[in-house]
This record gives sequence, C-alpha cells and structure tokens, in this order.
Amino acid sequence: MSKHPIVKSAAEIDAMREACKLAARTLRMAGELVKPGIATEAINEAVHQYTIDHGAVPAPLNYGEDRDRGIPPFPKSVCTSVNEVICHGIPRADEVLEDGDIINIDVTCILDGFHGDTSRTFLVGEVSPEAKQLVEVTWDCMLKGIETIKPKSRVRDIGTTIQQYAERFGYGVVREYVGHGIGRSFHEAPQIPHWRSPGPTLRLRPGMIFTVEPMINLGTHETILDPDDGWTVRTQDGKLSAQFEHTVLVTESGHDILTDWKYIE
Ligand code: MF3
Ligand code: CO
Ligand code: CO
Repeated sequence: MSKHPIVKSAAEIDAMREACKLAARTLRMAGELVKPGIATEAINEAVHQYTIDHGAVPAPLNYGEDRDRGIPPFPKSVCTSVNEVICHGIPRADEVLEDGDIINIDVTCILDGFHGDTSRTFLVGEVSPEAKQLVEVTWDCMLKGIETIKPKSRVRDIGTTIQQYAERFGYGVVREYVGHGIGRSFHEAPQIPHWRSPGPTLRLRPGMIFTVEPMINLGTHETILDPDDGWTVRTQDGKLSAQFEHTVLVTESGHDILTDWKYIE
C-alpha cells in the first residue's frame, strides 16, 4: 500500500511526542498562573520564557501574516481568550483577570522542527454555575470527539459526535475555526470540523496526527473577527465561549492523545 502524504513516519511520530509533551508541560505551567489580578501579558511572558528555556520556539509569535488579506502577524507567544473571546485572543498588559472570568490558554511550541498544540479553559476564582457547566461540557465534547478516532472511522464522526452532545445543552458549535493536521507545519491537512459539516469526509489511517479543539458557545455559534487587530474572534452575541484542544495520533488500535497530561506526570 502506498504511503498517504498525511501519514507520519515512526521518526516523525517520536518527534511529535516530544513536542506535544513540551506543549502540555507549558500549558500546565501557564494554568498555574491563572488567578484574579494577573494580566494576560504576564501569562504570555511566562509561556515565552518557558518555551525558550526548553529549547523550543513559541509558534504563535509572528505567525500567520497574510499581506494580501491585510492580516498582520500574530504579535505574541500564546493565545489568551477571555470570556466572550472564542479564540486567538492577544495577551495584553492592561487585560487583568477578574474573579468569575474564564480564560482559554492555547499553547503551541516548535521543538526540533515539530509542532505540539494544546489548550484548556481555566476558571478564574469562583465562576457562575452557567460558566462552569459550559466549560465542563466543552471538555466532554473534546473527549467524546476524540473517542471516535480509530482506523477506518471518518473525520466526520468527530464533529457529528461533538455537535450532538453540545446541542443537548443548547450550546452553539463554532464552524469557522476547525481542528487541523499538524507536524512540521502548524496547520496541515486534514481539516477537522467540530460540527456536522457537509461534503466528502476522510477515512482515518494509523499515523495521522491532528488536533481536536472544539469551541463551544453559550449562545449562538456565530462569530465576529475583530477588524482592528485582525485576530481576536468573539461570539456575535457577546456570550461566553469555551475551548479545549489536544493533539491526537491515530494508532492501529485506536488513538493516542499526545498532549495528555498523563505523559508529563
Ligand atoms: N493554536 C491555535 C490552533 O489551535 C492557532 C493559533 S494561531 C495564532 O490552531 F497565530 F493565533 F497563534
Ligand atoms: Co490547533
Ligand atoms: Co491551539
């Protein structure tokens, strides 16, 4: 059988395991900083330093410039998305976390040329029951999507499972931003929708590596991109959004979560 271009070699998989472990460790470190009174820029500085200290490069920094579309490079080393920010929030010195906030921290590092990508939503102090449920259900959405991953299952099974579960709670599933293949590049084929998207869908094969990173909104699934910074994505209705992300390998028997914290204990 000919090797599929998006199937990784054993050596590439080993390198991805290391990058993903570092991303998981960095995220755990960043999560320990979350408390009322900390600025998102302080989280950025900690992530930047930790990444460099471990011989890696923070992938977000200067990523994604698109001159044709007028998109500037991402200016920081981590994404920090607070409350109604869905994803790609830019850390700021004047953005200070308050009791009751929720914050997604999305870490991507490049170690020996390979990317590890993982995020979690953390609670700041005491949050409302509504916010807590959103965050818990979003974690479950990610895990339920990952549970479908095995050889010969289809990419579509991931999003279908996530959407079905999220809609039980009346939540909106973001469509414009998707999971992605990952390796030497930050974003590779295939795309991994978190909703029941129409059209052809790929069959999974051992050696594929991609992220599952559902963004789940308390209200409408619709999004607005900040026209001023070109990056920050918010809910259209201003209600809360949560997200979790793992990088996952398809194995012969099922899957392996490369950014699982069980690998960094
Ligand atoms: N880490 C994000 C993802 O999960 C991408 C961030 S791109 C950045 O795909 F430029 F905003 F960092
Ligand atoms: Co990702
Ligand atoms: Co990410």
